[in-house]
Amino acid sequence: MTTFPTLSGEPPLVIAHRGASGVLPEHTLAAYKRAIDMGADYIEPDLVITKDGVLVARHDRHLSKTTNVSTHPEFADRKRGDPNHVGEDWFVEDFTLAEIQTLRAMQPREGRSKNYDGKYEIPTFEDVVRLAKIASKSTGRPIGIYPETKHPSNFAAAGLRHDEAMLETLSAFGYQGETAPVFIQSFELENLRRLQDVTDIKLIYLTETLPDVPLATLAKTVSGIGPYKKLLLDEAGRDTGFVAAAHGAGLAVHPWTFRDDALDPKFPDIDTEIKAYYALGVDGIFSDFPDTALRVRQDKQQALQD
Ligand code: G3P
Ligand code: CA
Repeated sequence: MTTFPTLSGEPPLVIAHRGASGVLPEHTLAAYKRAIDMGADYIEPDLVITKDGVLVARHDRHLSKTTNVSTHPEFADRKRGDPNHVGEDWFVEDFTLAEIQTLRAMQPREGRSKNYDGKYEIPTFEDVVRLAKIASKSTGRPIGIYPETKHPSNFAAAGLRHDEAMLETLSAFGYQGETAPVFIQSFELENLRRLQDVTDIKLIYLTETLPDVPLATLAKTVSGIGPYKKLLLDEAGRDTGFVAAAHGAGLAVHPWTFRDDALDPKFPDIDTEIKAYYALGVDGIFSDFPDTALRVRQDKQQALQD
């Protein structure tokens, strides 16, 4: 039987990017749960840190884009400038967990439903891991967790660290060692190198450009790369050789981000786009619409069996 051209020959993983963020506000328990119900293999929490050192799931340090913080008069005086941000905003590291829990998530992307704005709390990482653990039991399949350390250097400069709390939380729910259904991802290679010293959990190096570190060097630290998807296919839709080179170094490839409502214009529809990446041999994809990625994978699996 023909197999997928992935490193392992197994079907590519479907990673629910910020949960099923195409249909529900990103990084909420509702969005992660919806992704699990769709059948996603992994749920992806981006992690930032509160003033009192608690990991919470948000893509950004600044809060105005994905929460209703601007409608809370009691926090009006927390708005400030920041050297790493354009314009003034509210920043997660200025708020305690108790304060963050008074906020509600909002839909940040144009064209997506605003019907759920104001309904859902900002979950802690512990909430997310607990959800995955409970869902693994109730569904009878392992629900993977794919946490990203967001801006670890910036947080460290403020005296806040991701690593220990993240690993302790994973371990408390039994997610430990290289066989755990966990990938820890970061854009900061130094963060991954520090993690390598203290955990066997699989690590993924994120990159928006071609890595300036040789793949063989990366492979000493990480088990895979999470590249911007356009590094894999050029503007004419031709294979750049990225996947073959990474696979040659023993690295898995998990590109981002596939969105039904934000197609790469060189493709006529999302199915064609995702199929092109599966054909390259990617080992997983990040999608805001995991049900679509799963359906296309199922079609491909069926075609391989016929
Ligand atoms: O982590 C993979 C992908 O999510 C990286 O982009 O900005 O959506 O976190 P971002
Ligand atoms: Ca991410």
